[in-house]
Amino acid sequence: MTESPQGHTDDRVAVVTGAGQGIGRAIAVALAARGVRVVVTDRNAETGTAVAKEVGGDFLSLDVSDPRAVAGVAGEVVRRFDRVDVLVNNAGIAHEDDALDVTDEVWHRVLDVDLTGTFVACREFGRHFVRRGSGSIVNISSIAAFIGSNPEYHVAYDVAKAGVSQLARSLAVEWARYGVRVNAVAPGRTRTPILDTVGMDDPRRMTQWIDQIPLGRLLEAEEIAAAVAFVALDATAMTGQTLLVDGGQIAQ
Ligand SMILES: NC(=O)c1ccc[n+]([C@@H]2O[C@H](COP(=O)([O-])OP(=O)(O)OC[C@H]3O[C@@H](n4cnc5c(N)ncnc54)[C@H](O)[C@@H]3O)[C@@H](O)[C@H]2O)c1
Repeated sequence: MTESPQGHTDDRVAVVTGAGQGIGRAIAVALAARGVRVVVTDRNAETGTAVAKEVGGDFLSLDVSDPRAVAGVAGEVVRRFDRVDVLVNNAGIAHEDDALDVTDEVWHRVLDVDLTGTFVACREFGRHFVRRGSGSIVNISSIAAFIGSNPEYHVAYDVAKAGVSQLARSLAVEWARYGVRVNAVAPGRTRTPILDTVGMDDPRRMTQWIDQIPLGRLLEAEEIAAAVAFVALDATAMTGQTLLVDGGQIAQ
């Protein structure tokens, strides 16, 4: 395999949303390690630019809850590289509220970013994949798609993530004839800044979380990223699936 001056040993171009930190950053690193050219996107330009530098890729600013911006970035990637092969819909936000306290604003914000943002990116990048007759999408779901989350409650997040897994099923069936695969990866509780928003600094809660995980520890972002790289690049017969990477939580 020949290596480009930037160290890309694979012609493929992958776009990762919300890649400025946490699981998204680890996914960008894992894909770049496979030689793929990675386009890092995030609403945070500072962290996104740093990760792009780290992986020898490009940064494009993107808030996934802005449909016009998503369409613009899809077009820009194709203009710049003349191709796009992989989309990882990773950008997401969490919340913690008892259901009776979930305001309309919180409900819409979480659904806008986590579910609608994922759908719009599938649609806008999907246009290019369908036209080209190939493409691989991985949506980052969650164990929350399969359970009523506890001890912290976040019904809007749970519903959004169930939708993210359903998008993989619906779009996989619709786009299989165009050679486009659509899957999801559902992490269990993973040590990243998002857990700060649901109580990572509370030792009692940490004990409760770990008690729910048969492996007996939180997961690391790199462990999720390895599964995403496998699904995105290697699992050529897999489509419409959600791969749980949860330390055994859902199995018990
Ligand atoms: N950490 C966990 O325990 C866990 C478990 C299951 C699923 N997930 C999912 O994994 C994904 C990544 O989470 P993380 O733990 O790395 O969280 P994180 O908060 O560490 O990182 C999220 C990233 O997404 C970006 N982002 C947020 N809103 C955005 C928007 N509107 N547009 C573009 N970028 C935006 C942030 O700037 C940040 O870089 C999320 O979809 C999350 O729901 C996380």
